[in-house]
This record gives sequence, structure tokens and C-alpha cells, in this order.
Amino acid sequence: MLRVTSMDLTKIKVDTLAIAVCEDEDIHDDPIIKTVIRRALKLREFSGQNDETVTLYDVPDVKAQRIILWGLGKLEKTDREALRSMAGKTVKHCIKKKLANLCFAVPKPSMIKMEMSTVLETMQEGAYLGNHLFHKFKGEEKKKALKQIHFRITEQVSQKLRQLSARVAAICEGTTLARDWVSTPSNEKTPEKLTRSIVSLATKQRLKVQVLNEGQLKQKKLGALLAVAAGSQSKPSMVLLEHKTPGAKKTLALVGKGVTFDSGGLNIKTGTSISDMKSDMSGAAAVAATLITAAKLKTKVNIIGAIPIVENMPSGQATRPGDIIRSYAGKTIEIGNTDAEGRLILIDAISYVVKRYKPQLLIDLATLTGACVVALGDKIAGVFSNDDDLAAAIVASGEKTHERCWRMPLPEDYKELLKSDFADTNNIGNTRAGGAITAALFLSEFAADTRWAHIDIAGPAYLKTGSAYCGPGGTGFGVRLLCDMLGAVL
Ligand code: BES
Ligand code: MN
Ligand code: ZN
Repeated sequence: MLRVTSMDLTKIKVDTLAIAVCEDEDIHDDPIIKTVIRRALKLREFSGQNDETVTLYDVPDVKAQRIILWGLGKLEKTDREALRSMAGKTVKHCIKKKLANLCFAVPKPSMIKMEMSTVLETMQEGAYLGNHLFHKFKGEEKKKALKQIHFRITEQVSQKLRQLSARVAAICEGTTLARDWVSTPSNEKTPEKLTRSIVSLATKQRLKVQVLNEGQLKQKKLGALLAVAAGSQSKPSMVLLEHKTPGAKKTLALVGKGVTFDSGGLNIKTGTSISDMKSDMSGAAAVAATLITAAKLKTKVNIIGAIPIVENMPSGQATRPGDIIRSYAGKTIEIGNTDAEGRLILIDAISYVVKRYKPQLLIDLATLTGACVVALGDKIAGVFSNDDDLAAAIVASGEKTHERCWRMPLPEDYKELLKSDFADTNNIGNTRAGGAITAALFLSEFAADTRWAHIDIAGPAYLKTGSAYCGPGGTGFGVRLLCDMLGAVL
């Protein structure tokens, strides 16, 4: 879908040529483009301010039917995310106008003070992701995504740039796969269905796939996971995906929370807090999509993906508040609240992975707490880690990909809040205060001395209204972040 070209503007046959313009500096060196911009500026209809646009038709020397000039604002404010957003919004604009063929005139890297690879990567990400639609369940008013998006550069198209485009497309495809899983309604992704969907796509990419079914989970005593699943008609599972690289010595484990619907269980959620809980498997979606992408890109590391999948429902069979259960690690847990279910399935997955695969590094992703959304809002994820380097690497990848992460503390003395009178631990803290931290501390006990990080994505995993390069629904948060990290951590 992404094409890089160095063809002349007099020859590129597209509906629309999109040109990014800064208000204070030239960022293009093509004489035709410079003339077009100069003329528009002269008419005073357009000054290049952020998100200001103007459309010009039948411009001399340009084959495209129309040119859209898109303002970026000041050059010093034009960073990676500004380019992503501009590209995403332009694509969305074209979809709305039912235009099928778009070409971006890529700014000259030296003039925009970035590497060519950065300019191209970010514009392609924004464009690819902005072109994604979740409209499977729509009839008549189905929108049409663009078939191809071209990126015109003024230098020769090298093999390196072609490879970069292929990598961007693969990672964005992973992101949209995660988005689709998250946006799918819970009736269409029961634990059985989601398990099958992950297994089928993972098998196609030649990942090693293993599924622990309910019988095996019982036999292996993953009691915390089973306690969450107890109230649902659907059967739980744990999907294990392996991407192996011959010669690679170290293994990274990724664990993703896969609650296909979180009603809260017997501590049923009230009011509006229940309505978006189809998104409670966003961690699972990100982990599965990252493994599939890593396999596609033949990323040179060993990765294990562990994905516990359950539905949290109330029923006569459901686990009750006050029940005491035994986790896979052997610790007993008093259920203070059945709505604190994510941490229960995660600890069994984490202990299982640590025992069975002994990874050098473990990262879990989970829509774990509303408290994290209160703390950081819905655009930034919380990172908790027992390892400074790992936390720093996650935050750095978050900056680069704009899947922003902020490190939060794991204070030893807060562990007291999780004490139970009757069991080894309670699954909730005895106060609402610091809820994201107590949840993370609960997990930390089960990572033991493995280098571990927990990313609470309850905020950024799901959008009620779209953004520059995402529609309403799942965002695919975590896929670009993890794919970026895979290069860095091992
Ligand atoms: N899935 C929710 C967390 C969540 C909240 C995700 C908002 C996305 C948006 C989680 O299982 C949950 O219910 N957490 C409780 C924990 C509490 C009972 C200790 C919460 O945050 O209220
Ligand atoms: Mn819950
Ligand atoms: Zn949940």
C-alpha cells in the first residue's frame, strides 16, 4: 500500500498531491512546489499555520488533479508526531472526499532537520494508520480506504528506503490487526473465538503455537486464571506463541491481558464504566500482533508471547468476593473484589512463563486499572519496573513512537496495603488511593527476580472518538512501541 517514488510531478498521475508546509521556513526544494506554495501564500488564504489547508485545482506543471497544502506551523515545532498527524489527517480527508489516489510530496530532510528515514517512516506510519477503518459491521455507509499511498522524494529511491517502507507497512499492519481485535464486540470474540483467531494468524506466520485449554489449565493448577473464568459460559485458554531465532541466546517474554469482556463479575461494574469493556483484551491483542509482526520481519531475537484469555462474568458459578483461591505459584489469594480480575490472570501467566521458559526479560501489557487513567489521562501509559534500564528503554521507545509511557513508582512499603487476614495476599489494596501502584505491586511478587516491566494501557488502548491517525475504537497501542523495543533490549 505504501509506495516510494522519485517520479517527476509532471508525471505522477494521482487524484491528489499533498504538500506539507511550514509557516516560517521552506521545507521543499522542488521548484514547482516552491512556486505553488509561494502563489498560495501571496493570496493570503493560506499561511502554513498548523492544520490550515487549502485545495488548488489544475495547477500548471502538475499532473495531479488537485493539490492540498497542509500547514504544519513553525519548523521548530515540527517533530515526528507532527508529520504522522499531518499524514493521517490528510488520508482521512481524502477518504471523506472519496478520493482513491494520494501522493505526498515528502519534505527535504535537511530542510526539515531530520533524517530521510525518519521523515519517510513517520509520514508512512500516519498515512497507513489513518487509512485504517473498522467497518466490518457497517452496511450502506461503508467508507472506502485508499488503495495506494505514494511518497514522492526528490532523491533516488534506494533499496534501503524500500526496505524501510516494507518494515513500516508490516508494523502498521500489526497495529491495525490489534485495533481490529480490540474493536470487535465481545459477542464476536468470546475466549474461544479470540483464541482461534490468534492461533490461525500466528500459525500462518509460522510461529510455534501452543494452547492450554481448560482441562490443561486445571491440571497445571492455574487457579487464579480459572477463578476469573468461572462465571462465564465461555472456556478460558492460555495461548503461547514462540518466535525463535537460531543462535539468539536470550529470550524476551511478553504477557498480555486477554479479558474479552470485563463486566466486573459479581462486583459488577455500574453506569458507563462497563460500556467499553470489550477493550479489556488490548494487552493480549498487542502481544499477539507484536509476535506476528516479529515473525513476519524475522526479528533477530527469541520472543515468547503468553496470552491468558477469559471472560469476567457474574453467574451462579462465578467466584465470589471473599473466596480464597490458590494461584499457579502456590500463593493463596483472597478475592477482595472480582473486578480486580486482570492481575489474577496475569500472575498465573507470568509465573507460568517464568518457570517454564526462564526469560531474561518479561514485559506485560494490560488495561489494568482505572486509577492509571486518573493519574495519566487517556493518552499516556504507566510503566512499572524492577529494572531502571528496562523502564528507560520503554519510555524512550514511547517517545519515538508517540506511544507515550511514564514511569511510576513501586514503593516497597505500599505492599502492606495488599495484606489479607486470611490468605497470603488480597487481590485489592485496602484503599482506592494509589490503585495503579497496588495493582503493579501485586504483579511484581510473581515476576520474582526476572527483569520485569508492567505497562498499564487502560487509558491509551481505546479511543471513544478518533485522533489524527486512528478511528474510534482500539488504537493498537503497544505494537509500535514493542516492535521498536525489540531492536533495543536484548
Ligand atoms: N479492566 C479494568 C480497568 C480499566 C478501567 C480498563 C478503565 C480500561 C478502562 C480492570 O479490570 C478493573 O476493573 N480495575 C478496577 C480495579 C479495582 C476493583 C481495584 C478499577 O480500576 O476500578
Ligand atoms: Mn475489572
Ligand atoms: Zn479488567
